[in-house]
Amino acid sequence: MCGIVGYTGERGTVDVLLEGLSRLEYRGYDSAGVSVIDGEHIALRKKGGKLAVLRASLEDAPLPASATGIGHTRWATHGGPTDENAHPHIGDDGRLSLIHNGIIENFAELRAELEAAGEAFASETDTEAAAKLLGRAYRETGDLTAAMRQVVKRLHGQFTLLAMHAEQPGVVVGASHNSPLLVGYGEGEHFLGSDVSAFVKFTPSAAALDNDQIVTITRDSASVTDFDGNAVEPKRFEVSWDASAAEKGGWNSFMAKEISEGPEAVENTMRGRLADSRVELDLGALDDEVLRSIDRIVIVACGTANYSGLVGKYAIETWARVPVEVDLAHEFRYRDPVLDERTLVISISQSGETMDTKMAVQHAKAQGARTLSICNTQGATIPRESEAVLYTHAGPEVAVASTKAFLAQVIGQLLFGLHLARVRGTMADEAIAEVIAEMRELPAELRQVLAEQEAVHELAHWMADSRSVLFLGRHVGYPVALEGALKLKEISYIHAEGFAGGELKHGPIALIEPGQVVFVVVPSPRNEPLLHSKIVSNIQEIRARGARVIVVAEAGDAAVLPYADVVLRVPLTLPMLEPVLQVVPLHIFALELATAKGLDVDQPRNLAKSVTVE
Ligand code: F6R
Repeated sequence: MCGIVGYTGERGTVDVLLEGLSRLEYRGYDSAGVSVIDGEHIALRKKGGKLAVLRASLEDAPLPASATGIGHTRWATHGGPTDENAHPHIGDDGRLSLIHNGIIENFAELRAELEAAGEAFASETDTEAAAKLLGRAYRETGDLTAAMRQVVKRLHGQFTLLAMHAEQPGVVVGASHNSPLLVGYGEGEHFLGSDVSAFVKFTPSAAALDNDQIVTITRDSASVTDFDGNAVEPKRFEVSWDASAAEKGGWNSFMAKEISEGPEAVENTMRGRLADSRVELDLGALDDEVLRSIDRIVIVACGTANYSGLVGKYAIETWARVPVEVDLAHEFRYRDPVLDERTLVISISQSGETMDTKMAVQHAKAQGARTLSICNTQGATIPRESEAVLYTHAGPEVAVASTKAFLAQVIGQLLFGLHLARVRGTMADEAIAEVIAEMRELPAELRQVLAEQEAVHELAHWMADSRSVLFLGRHVGYPVALEGALKLKEISYIHAEGFAGGELKHGPIALIEPGQVVFVVVPSPRNEPLLHSKIVSNIQEIRARGARVIVVAEAGDAAVLPYADVVLRVPLTLPMLEPVLQVVPLHIFALELATAKGLDVDQPRNLAKSVTVE
């Protein structure tokens, strides 16, 4: 995890670094640090705790002005979140500083070797070994880029490194091995960052390094080579995000703001892709012939993205008649899944950097499977490693808890499902047109859901002291239940579980005791009378045992009223589209409850937004 930023240019370097770190804090926030070149030495400040602690320290005692600096926000892996373990780390007797994202697996051996050679270590991190090693390589080569080239060959694991040396002011060198690094191109200045949000406020012009590359930035240049020193030309792109989209803009939290942006996330993901009776997708290498040849789809993803995949499974199987499995990316990677060139592996990831998902894609490719990425972040690693990408356009998601990205991921899969159905001839044009017409209504319906959540606010307040909340759903309501439970546990630290309604009597019903609150996601009785009657039976079973039942139900569903303590209403839509609307009250509930408990909803404990280590 961890966020890294580097800068060389004439703006206030520390300010640029802090701005970048504030955008990257979602990647980890248990300690932070910055360093700048100050004459013959490195000036350094690093602090355990959130970025605010570092900021306060820099306000009390500023670092000197400098044209070169690097900054880091950490999610601890090796060594606790202390001042000493915070990055940057120092090498070459205080003349070099280095920051790192990832894990250096052979750090213990390296450390023993370096200690035997007389190096003294000040932290418990794996990173410090790289700093010391780089310092020694610099003394041999007299050039930071050449030294970096030596060092990367000695490191095992996965890493992005940024470093600078006081003897080479105006130079920052970065290296990337299975971990992201992007370059930002400015006029008389250059930037490096873990993702584009680190510098998008200053420049929209960016390029992503490929695996095993080294970049050297100065004020006027950014040169990239492979690990052997051969020059490469990275592919530049313009970031389409508006920098202000990653700001709170008057909201109390990013999570609140991002929930409110659901309608635009859905609208923008559909924009330019819907015709009257077909979906227009440019899937590059995954052309119609390939899509007709596949006989199986495996969706790989983690957390919320995985739950969106469960919705995708139902839609794609129903519409395109291809068997679809949904796997947790880490489980997929470490068993021996049956894959061949007729299998399409779809990865879903907001960040495009989740290590487990990336490894799953690499494994799928190595087995000859075809790969499609559904991703929200331009230039991220997973789409670059996949044959084709369907970008969701939810805009930057900063809060650790994913909300609007879930909606956009579902939409991305619905679009793909309809596309596949047309290509494979499994759905008539009229049927596709009917779904498209309903999808066009979703943004307005979402706005209506957002405007009518007074009951959720009240609910969250009276439930602030709950110890456990259960969520129940069937069919596409099941992933909604899982998502409602995940969101609640991750930001409010309340025990929460999601269950499939049919599973209740196979065990979970034992948890029901008088007063237990259960949210039930109810399908529309008009569209799915059978499923509706099944879930109403489930409700009766739990009520008979004293549960308090809160239902998320379609606006016209009167049948559910006698059985519910509270009803949260959503507009009527087609069954496969229901999750897009039903999940919103659950997101708002988690937000409101965590807020009522006085918790930091954007940065919940122990978590980071982008899980870039296994
Ligand atoms: C939950 C949450 C996580 C992510 C998961 C995958 O609110 O945010 O469960 O969904 O870590 O992240 P991405 O989508 O970036 O691969």
